[in-house]
Amino acid sequence: MCGIVGYIGSEQAVPILLESLKMLEYRGYDSAGVTVFNGSLETYKIAGRIKDLETVIPQNLTGNTGIGHTRWATHGKPETRNAHPHLSSNVSVVHNGIIENYMELKERLSGLGYEFLSDTDTEVIAHLLHFNMNCDGNKCLLDGLAETVKELEGSYAIAALCAEEPEILAFARKDSPLVIGIGEGSNYAASDVTAFLRHTKEVIFINDNEIGLLRPGSIEIFDQGGNRLSRETETIEWDLEAAEKAGYEHFMLKEIHEQPTSIQNTFAGKLSELEGTVTLDELHLEPAEIKRLRRVTIIACGTSWNAGILGKYLFEKLAGLHTDVETASEFRYSNPVLCGEELTIAITQSGETADTLAAVRSSSSYGCRSIAITNVVGSTITREADSVLYTRAGPEIGVAATKTFTAQLIALYMLAINLGRIRGIISANEAKDLIVGIKRLPGQIQKVLGRKDVINDCAMQFADKRDYFFIGRYLNYPVALEGALKLKEISYIHAEGYAAGELKHGPLALITEDTPVVAIATKGHTYEKILSNIKEVKARNATVIAVADDDDTEIEKYVDVVLRVPSSHELLAPVLSSVVLQLLSYYTALAKYCSIDKPRNLAKSVTVE
Ligand code: AGP
Repeated sequence: MCGIVGYIGSEQAVPILLESLKMLEYRGYDSAGVTVFNGSLETYKIAGRIKDLETVIPQNLTGNTGIGHTRWATHGKPETRNAHPHLSSNVSVVHNGIIENYMELKERLSGLGYEFLSDTDTEVIAHLLHFNMNCDGNKCLLDGLAETVKELEGSYAIAALCAEEPEILAFARKDSPLVIGIGEGSNYAASDVTAFLRHTKEVIFINDNEIGLLRPGSIEIFDQGGNRLSRETETIEWDLEAAEKAGYEHFMLKEIHEQPTSIQNTFAGKLSELEGTVTLDELHLEPAEIKRLRRVTIIACGTSWNAGILGKYLFEKLAGLHTDVETASEFRYSNPVLCGEELTIAITQSGETADTLAAVRSSSSYGCRSIAITNVVGSTITREADSVLYTRAGPEIGVAATKTFTAQLIALYMLAINLGRIRGIISANEAKDLIVGIKRLPGQIQKVLGRKDVINDCAMQFADKRDYFFIGRYLNYPVALEGALKLKEISYIHAEGYAAGELKHGPLALITEDTPVVAIATKGHTYEKILSNIKEVKARNATVIAVADDDDTEIEKYVDVVLRVPSSHELLAPVLSSVVLQLLSYYTALAKYCSIDKPRNLAKSVTVE
C-alpha cells in the first residue's frame, strides 16, 4: 500500500525523508520518490527500492522541506513516470488512496491544456491544485488544496508543496490514514507513525475531511468549512518493531483487520446502487461478446482456487453461464476441450504463480478470451491475460492469503453481476439488492472483527486437536475449503474441507469425539440440509462449532459453540464467514506458537512449477 511522508524543520530533509520511507517499506511498494525545496522544487523518483532512489538523489542536495512517497501501483504500471511525487509547474504532490473520478477530472484538465505524463490518478490532484491556485486570482497553497479536495471523489491522504511558499507543507485526508508528528522546531506528516517514530512520539491523528498545514514550529488544522480546529496531541506507546505492523503482533492479523478498507478499495467507483449496475470498463468486453458467451473456465491454485469455486456458483446463478473451475497445475497437462466462445478467468493474487501462468497460456492457445483477477499491478499475469480486474487490496505480506481472498470474492461478485445484467439473467432490482449488500460488508466485517475474543476462546479450546473438519453446502462449501486450508497452512493441524453432503460417502468414518467439526451454517436455501449434516456428526460425538447468522435463534440447540456473523444477503455471507475462519486459524496458530507470517515449507509467491 502506498505511503506518504513529509518533513519541514531545521534539519536536512533528504536523510529524514529517506529514513522515513525506509520505515514504510514493510507496507510493500514498487516505486519511490521525493521532492525537496532547494530554492526550487527538486524531484527524484524511481521504479525500484529506496536504496535505488538514494543513488539518483545528488549527494549535495540540501533543503529543509520535503515530501516523499512509496508507491504500490493501483493505476498504471510500476514505472518511474508513475512514481510520486507528481508535479504541476510549481506544485508537487504525494498521495495515498484512490481518486475514483480521476478520468473525468483528467479529461477536463486536459481540455484546459494540462499535459499528463503518467497513468496515475494522482497526477490529476497536482494539476487540479495548480489550476485552483491560479484560475481565479492567486490563491495560497492551503486555499488551493481546500478547493481541490472538494472536487475529489474517493480516498486520499495528500501532502503538497508549492515553490512559492516553501515555509509550509499542506496536507488533507479522507479515508486514508494521515498522522502528524510534532518535533522540536520540526514537524512531520506520514501515513503511519512508524515513519517518524525515531524523531518523535507526540502525534496528532488527522481525521477525515480535515486539511491543514505544517510550519517548522506550528501546525494548523481546519475542517471542511474552513474553521480552525484545536486538537490534543497523543503520545505513542509502541516501540519501533511493533509499529511496523501498526501495533499488530503479526502481518496476518493486521491484514485480517484491513479487510473493511481493502474490500472497499476493490469495489470503489464500480457500483451503482441507483441503476443496479456494475461498471467494469477495464475488461473491454463488448455487450455482444458477453451475450455470445457459452462457458467460463476459472483457473487458479490454493486460496484463489477456493475463491474460484464461489465464482462458479455466482456465474451460474447470476449470469447463467456454465462454469468449470480448474486446478492450474492439472489443467496445463490435461486435454481441455475449449472453443472460441468461452471466457477464461485466471485468479491469482500475486499474478506470478507459475502453474496459473502456464494454464492461461495454454487456454489462450485455443483462442479463448482471458481475464486476470489479480492484486499486483504489472505482475506477469497482467501481460498474459487479455484484460485485468485488479483487486486493489494492498500488499499482503503474511504468506496466508486473507484480505486478497475476500477482495477476490468481491471481484467475482462484481463480475457476475456485470455479466448477469448484460445477459439479462438478473433484474436491476436483484442487482441493486446485491450492491446494497456489498456496500454494507465493510461495516459488517468490522463487527466480526469486534468479536475476535469469542473466536480466540474457541480457538484455544481446540488448539490441541490433531484433526479438524470444515463443512458447508453450496456457497459455504468454498468457505469450508478455505477455512481448512488456512488452518492447516498456519497451525499445522490436519484439516479437511468438505461439501457437507459428501461426509456420508467416506469421511464420516474419521469423525470421533476428538474431531472438531466447523459447520458453516449461515441462512440460505441449504440451511435445513446443513442442520441434517450437523446432526449426522453430532451422532458420532463430534464437537460442532457453527458459524451462524446473528438472527438464527435455532442453531444453539444443535451445536456446541456458535460463532456469529451479521445477517446478510445469502450470496454475500461467505465474505463474513471467511473472516471468522481466518481469525479462528490465526488464534489457533498463536496458541501453538507457530510461525504465523512465514509458515514452514511455504512461499508467498509460487513462481516454480
Ligand atoms: C493461501 O493462503 C496460500 N498462500 C496459497 O494457497 C495461494 O493462494 C496459492 O499459492 C496461489 O497463489 P496466487 O493467488 O498468488 O496465485
